[in-house]
Amino acid sequence: MYRPACGRRRGEPRLYGKFRYSRSSFSLQRRYNPPSVRILVLSDIHSNLEALDSCLAAAPSHDLVINLGDTVGYGGNPNEVIAKAQSLGHVFVRGNHDKAVSGLMNLEEFNPVAGLATLWTRDQLTPENLDWLRSLPQGPIHLDELPGIQFVHGSALDEDEYMVSARDAIEPLITNTVPVTFFGHTHLQGGFVLTGEISEAYRPGYRTVGQPESSDWPLRKDCRYLINPGSVGQPRDGDWRAAFAMFDSEEWIATFYRVPYNLRVAQEKILAANLPQRLATRLATGR
Ligand SMILES: [Fe+2]
Repeated sequence: MYRPACGRRRGEPRLYGKFRYSRSSFSLQRRYNPPSVRILVLSDIHSNLEALDSCLAAAPSHDLVINLGDTVGYGGNPNEVIAKAQSLGHVFVRGNHDKAVSGLMNLEEFNPVAGLATLWTRDQLTPENLDWLRSLPQGPIHLDELPGIQFVHGSALDEDEYMVSARDAIEPLITNTVPVTFFGHTHLQGGFVLTGEISEAYRPGYRTVGQPESSDWPLRKDCRYLINPGSVGQPRDGDWRAAFAMFDSEEWIATFYRVPYNLRVAQEKILAANLPQRLATRLATGR
């Protein structure tokens, strides 16, 4: 059976705590890389203030916050979530819901539930927040202090592309030479790794379904990765807990997090706004 050097199959011992660069490679890294930056990566908050607050309370100390888009849509607190997201930092990538709500994209590609939520959100937002959504940049975003890393919503090839499977990931992995790409859009926490010409999916493993947990993915500098922090406000990978990720740019470790949040309050806000009931019920199942 083929086993790529860069992957770790589910159930295998994680390398965190044992993973160390050799002295020679570590000194090379120190010589050529900028100082370590710990990045908090958030994506697909979707107006869920309760989920965002829980993520921020659980997040370890960090130097930088990156938002991969879809700050609004679906949830009951669009203005409040935008205000909080703005207070966290200034590095954003626009998502398809950010575009649709602010009128940069028509609703033809949205299902009826997403379309209703988009129209409701547009109606709630202040003119300033609508202007801010319109001004968000299209990915990929590169930062001088983070060489070898880029940030997108869908993929580096198409901001609205869904990278769900290893097959979806192969072209973006092969055609783009940036070693690490953080992406969102699918609401599925995990990622893909390219070894040679083979891409393999990675999903973090967790022990519980209701407790705060984290899961480390030590990366190799000679492999190429697509990493999805998961959705803060509307997970769709069967885990109802809010999702986010941290990345240590020196240790080259991505850490995935899942944290419980006040689900009932988030659901009540959706129902009180007369948004489709499905938007409230799906939060409980993470689907
Ligand atoms: Fe989204």
